[in-house]
Amino acid sequence: MSRKILVTAALPYANGPIHIGHLVEYIQTDIWVRFQKMCGHDCIYCCADDTHGTPIMIRARQEGITPESLIEAMQDEHERDFAGFDIDFDSYYSTHSEENRQCSQTIFERNKAAGHISTRDVAQAFCQKCQMFLPDRFIRGTCPRCRTEDQYGDSCENCHATYTPLDLIDARCSVCGEPPVQRESKHYFFQLGDFTDQLREWVNGDHVHEQVRNKLDEWFKQGLRDWDISRDAPYFGFLIPGETDKYFYVWLDAPIGYIASTINYCKQNGLHYEDYWCHDGAEIYHFIGKDITYFHALFWPAMLMGAGFNTPTKLAIHGFLTVNGAKMSKSRGTFINADTYLKHLAPQYLRYYYACKLGPGTEDIDLNTEDFVQRVNSDLVGKLANLTSRSVPMLTKKMEGRIGSLSVEGKALINQLQDPAENIAQMYESRNYSIAVRTLMSLADDVNRYFDQRKPWSMINENPDHALETLTTTINAVRILTLYLKPILPTLAGQTEKILNIEPLQWSDVDKILENHQVKPFERLIERIDPEKVQAMLDESKQQQAESQAEKDPSPLDTEPLADEISFDDFIKVDLRVARVAKADLVEGADKLLRLELDLGGQTRTVLAGIRQAYQPEELVGKLMIVAANLAPRKMKFGVSEGMILAAGSGGKDIFVLTIDEGAKPGQRIH
Ligand code: 2FM
Ligand code: ZN
Repeated sequence: MSRKILVTAALPYANGPIHIGHLVEYIQTDIWVRFQKMCGHDCIYCCADDTHGTPIMIRARQEGITPESLIEAMQDEHERDFAGFDIDFDSYYSTHSEENRQCSQTIFERNKAAGHISTRDVAQAFCQKCQMFLPDRFIRGTCPRCRTEDQYGDSCENCHATYTPLDLIDARCSVCGEPPVQRESKHYFFQLGDFTDQLREWVNGDHVHEQVRNKLDEWFKQGLRDWDISRDAPYFGFLIPGETDKYFYVWLDAPIGYIASTINYCKQNGLHYEDYWCHDGAEIYHFIGKDITYFHALFWPAMLMGAGFNTPTKLAIHGFLTVNGAKMSKSRGTFINADTYLKHLAPQYLRYYYACKLGPGTEDIDLNTEDFVQRVNSDLVGKLANLTSRSVPMLTKKMEGRIGSLSVEGKALINQLQDPAENIAQMYESRNYSIAVRTLMSLADDVNRYFDQRKPWSMINENPDHALETLTTTINAVRILTLYLKPILPTLAGQTEKILNIEPLQWSDVDKILENHQVKPFERLIERIDPEKVQAMLDESKQQQAESQAEKDPSPLDTEPLADEISFDDFIKVDLRVARVAKADLVEGADKLLRLELDLGGQTRTVLAGIRQAYQPEELVGKLMIVAANLAPRKMKFGVSEGMILAAGSGGKDIFVLTIDEGAKPGQRIH
């Protein structure tokens, strides 16, 4: 029976580019939707840019443009990036749309009429210079607990204390630097507690993963508090009905953007959005990251309940992305924007890799760059594309591109591939993509084994019938494997369908077989990943970070003026030489220093270098670096240092020693 399913992914903020962390979710969702469509369900994927709020308003101001033109440009970029990754929305809309305004008003007014909205005065930080109330993130000051400077108004990055902006020492407006004052104003509150029983019942239905249910239980125990849904002018958002200077908080109208995007889809296709949002039997799936669970598991269903809409059928909640085992980092180059990735690598690699890693739970997933290269090259290229590239050209060159009938042995193998179709479908349905991939890769192993054992490349001359049997089976196997992988790799599937000369594969086609069928000439499918391209992508991301940091920061020249001028002759007095690290040791009692014994090709020098926090001694041994070799020896607390090695960075972990490639000789002068 055909299902009617509305699927959403979280709406990305319109104040920043899409990065590979975001893509986990959009790819996960896209795979699920493509799978449902292949099964013949009426499934639509709706999304939009999340456009409102203070950060967007301030950024537009700083760029000297209107928020409208900022969000328009951002939306173009987002849509381009998503398309670049084969993410195919049925509707990509904006929360700054008439549909969203109306729908937000309706939901607000229905809740208000039902008594779920109240008002009261709230005291908040206000900047007199900017003439605006300051969200916590726009206040910086010193942490009251550990005294770390320059912390946000709500929490300390150093000691993780949480507090209110009032507790911050020496609080400042982060836009203009003025200290804020306290000011009162009327705010609107959504009485979440009114829905406690209904929400408990909803959460205990099969709508969220067990891991999430436990978290929700904690929240229920703490009691559901009223939610402040208004913000004072100036604000970029929708005016609250009946007010002239109060707006809906961005998080009120953001999820309503799911409905607005559905309305947009329905308008374009002559349908009714109520069929998705109000009628029995329609399903609503929200894919989100675990950080926004509270909004989607409590506020959102409650708002929908209060306004008489259907509540979500399921929240598909995923974890965060780490890269090489750590949080994405701008300085390591692992904070990779979607468009930077696409300059270096094909989108299918990432789709495949994420699928290999994704399950139904909220665990974080790791993109390990070495494993990424290895997996894609061995699975996608080595096991899958190779089957096509080894069989189709042989068939077209030697057999006029025509397959015959399946032999008994061939049929047995094809049945073996067809049997798990139901299971694999279930794995997609339950978002167990990693297991689906593992299952179908092991099927691909079986097919490769069959192909290698039957050696069609050598049989083709001595026993062409035998070779044709092998190729017929292989082509049928390729077809089934392609079908199974199609939600993950739609482009590869499309190319393969073209070569096999078949209609776009649907899930139910799994039971068919191809016999006495003409295929088309082979076209290259997918290249191996060149690890250098991955490195180039990381390097470019690092570079972008350095450039954007340089744009943001005030010039260090202002705070630290240039020293006295020196002549060129003075400069070249510094004798820079290549040195090999012969030994590297910790310096007892010094937490910043390493003692390096440097071989300058005949001479040995001991240098005390302040790089302990950035390097382990053992990783330096054998490296070639550059040393200022004619510095007078300097007596330090921990011994005499006979030179300095060249390094750059802001200090601590952020120090990069300048190394030189293996071709250089210790003692060689660097000019
Ligand atoms: O966390 C975020 O990035 C939000 N922009 C997600 C909004 S999802 C929905 F509620 F609109
Ligand atoms: Zn200010």
